[in-house]
Amino acid sequence: MKITIIGTGYVGLVTGACFADLGNIVYCVDSDRGKIDSLKKGKITIYEPGLEEMVRQNMEEGRIYFSTNIKSSVKKSDMVFICVGTPSREGGEPDLLALENVSREIAKNINNYKLIVEKSTVPVETGQWVKRTISAFSASGGKDRKAKFDIACNPEFLREGTAIKDFMHPDRVVIGVESERAKNILLDLYKPLSAPIVVTDIKSAEIIKHASNSFLAMKISFINAISVICEKVGADIKEVARGIGLDKRIGREFLNAGLGFGGSCFPKDIAAFIHMAEKAGYRFDLLREVRNINENQKDIIIEKISKAIWNIPGKTIGVLGLSFKPDTDDIRNAPPMDIIKRLIEQGAKIKAYDPKAMKKARKVFKKGITYCKDIYSAAKGSDCLVVLTDWNEFKEIDFKRLKKLLKQPVIVDGRNIYDPYRVKKLGFTYTGIGRRA
Ligand code: UDX
Repeated sequence: MKITIIGTGYVGLVTGACFADLGNIVYCVDSDRGKIDSLKKGKITIYEPGLEEMVRQNMEEGRIYFSTNIKSSVKKSDMVFICVGTPSREGGEPDLLALENVSREIAKNINNYKLIVEKSTVPVETGQWVKRTISAFSASGGKDRKAKFDIACNPEFLREGTAIKDFMHPDRVVIGVESERAKNILLDLYKPLSAPIVVTDIKSAEIIKHASNSFLAMKISFINAISVICEKVGADIKEVARGIGLDKRIGREFLNAGLGFGGSCFPKDIAAFIHMAEKAGYRFDLLREVRNINENQKDIIIEKISKAIWNIPGKTIGVLGLSFKPDTDDIRNAPPMDIIKRLIEQGAKIKAYDPKAMKKARKVFKKGITYCKDIYSAAKGSDCLVVLTDWNEFKEIDFKRLKKLLKQPVIVDGRNIYDPYRVKKLGFTYTGIGRRA
């Protein structure tokens, strides 16, 4: 099929590259000329394992193209996927202006039947607005014929760092449609994945996305709340998480206590879902509490650091991890960024290392922190070492060497990546999250 992808951010680029890899012809469009120029050279603007190679290969084989021209791309496509950003406004309400503008542009270029698909995470009823906008703008301009099009909702469930795998091997594909024609086109498009497909109406598909992310975030806040109780009574959160996670009805994933969730999705989607629910007349207290617990994890880690090194002012703190999770360079809403900011406000000097996110963090902290080339440089001369992102490369380190480099052998493990007993036996003071030791 011929597909236009509007918005070559994280979701649009992965979606476009994967559709091309499945044999479709894909036209990726973005208004950011700089981004498009770099993509045309096969240089992708985000770090996502395997994505750059996939884009390059499909470019060579003539299946994926990049341009800033919505007009020509829409005209030659059967389907248009809207993948533009829906950032949070002040009160949590998602900003849908880009979505509306793109809908108008699409409307003006419907030269034959098109299937227009919402891929961006949007509040329920957005599909109806897209439909109304396209109807209004496609009929305008004196064209007598009513443009034939359908709207659909096809939410993404991509995790940063594993996005290609999540696209190619999804637990399920969700399609919200209003017509047989739209349903058959999307069933045909996703056939090569041979994954379970949930066919529903557009509003249910929009809710499925919000409910899915909110449930995952709730699991994380639940285990973080339990970790606080564990600490107060001397239980161990890792053993509790294992003990409940083996129950298939609960499941082991998303039960890792730590600094909580960050990233460009969970915080934004939760705020949007709370706002949307309240606009529909329901006060979503449960989700508000999920957010409160998540915010509180940052207070907890600051408190732990202060307990571990006494006074924070004037101290040097070695920080491992800046990204919101491993295998990404994304620092949006990343707990480490907020925690470092607060430590600096309290007078600490920061020496930071992250395998991928240093460049992006430098744009935020500029000369306010020291950027180290590896774990051991971050530890050298520091009063303690604080783990804020659970990168694999932090897990197996030379503790003997670390001990010599630190001013005092103190580790605060915000992601519970070390074994407390082992680290203590090596002579360190260890603090984790919800750990018995
Ligand atoms: C999430 C959803 O998983 C994905 O389905 C959706 O499409 C987009 O949002 P992403 O934000 O990329 O994906 O990362 P994810 O792996 O879900 O982690 C989100 C945050 O939760 C990270 O900050 C991570 O550190 C944290 N997390 C995750 C925990 O604190 N504990 C866990 O057990 C799992």
